[in-house]
Amino acid sequence: MNNGSPYGDLMLLSGTANPELSERIAREMGMRLAEMEITRFADGEFDVKIGESVRGHDVFLIQPTCHPVSDNLVQLFITIDALRRASASRITAVTPYYGYQRKEKKTQPRDPISAKLMANIIELAGANRVICVDLHAEAIQGFFDIPVDALTATKILARRVRERHGHNVVIVSPDTGGAHRARRMASILDAPIAVIDKRRPRDDAIEVNNVIGDVAGMKSVIVDDLISTGSTLVGAAVALREKGATGVDCVATHGVLTNGALRHLHEAPIDEICITDTIPFPNGQPSFDDAPKLRVLSVAPLIAEAIVRVHEGRSVSELFR
Ligand code: R5P
Repeated sequence: MNNGSPYGDLMLLSGTANPELSERIAREMGMRLAEMEITRFADGEFDVKIGESVRGHDVFLIQPTCHPVSDNLVQLFITIDALRRASASRITAVTPYYGYQRKEKKTQPRDPISAKLMANIIELAGANRVICVDLHAEAIQGFFDIPVDALTATKILARRVRERHGHNVVIVSPDTGGAHRARRMASILDAPIAVIDKRRPRDDAIEVNNVIGDVAGMKSVIVDDLISTGSTLVGAAVALREKGATGVDCVATHGVLTNGALRHLHEAPIDEICITDTIPFPNGQPSFDDAPKLRVLSVAPLIAEAIVRVHEGRSVSELFR
């Protein structure tokens, strides 16, 4: 595909982080993934072999930096380096899930700002742009000095909420920091919002101080950027039920789903959990027998559309809204 792009023909490459998503994106675009092999040396270090010429090409490298985060990051860095040295005319790092994004500011003395460091290394390796989906904090875009297309899966998730509940629903943010996300979905659905005042004493536990807004007698849908241990959603769902919510669904873009998360979510008073495929579901394809409450929607059409627009030099902004 070229369409007169000054950066040459479009080329898609995939690291090993989420090959199913890469395949889906390629299928959406009617393209194939270029040949690339990632292997390990005997000592565990990665090696990358790009199987075809990228010289003068507009290359999009799909590699979410999800678990195993360090491995996926190093793969991303060295593949970008290989592409730059092989004279790709433009390199776009497509990181649907951006690892270390929750460490975007210092919260204690002597903390690192890991999200900024990752941005520095991606740039230093040679990326010319970045495409990502639902960053934990929008300010992370500013950690880069190259263009960042920060897409959102809000519309994809909102479609599911509308399918299940129409407009008769209250959209809930599980913490004050996520209120803008709940507002964005509520405005699509023309629904009221509520916000939970949460405290996190430990990484795997939360305390709910208060639910701000009216949820009694209504179906609630909690909106979050990601599910890690699941404790935020479990705590929020219990609090909403105590306040009289008649049902609780959860929608979140990134299913990080650390060990035990699915079991906790399964046991919680939650009716449905909807995530996207920015991160591969454990063991490859989703097994709905193991996770009957879980539904996975694909961001492949969204990312494919963004890639085509970037390649053709067309506006991407309507995909942010
Ligand atoms: C917090 O600010 C985030 O938006 C998520 O609510 C949180 O990271 C989810 O983590 P967990 O599932 O471990 O509670």
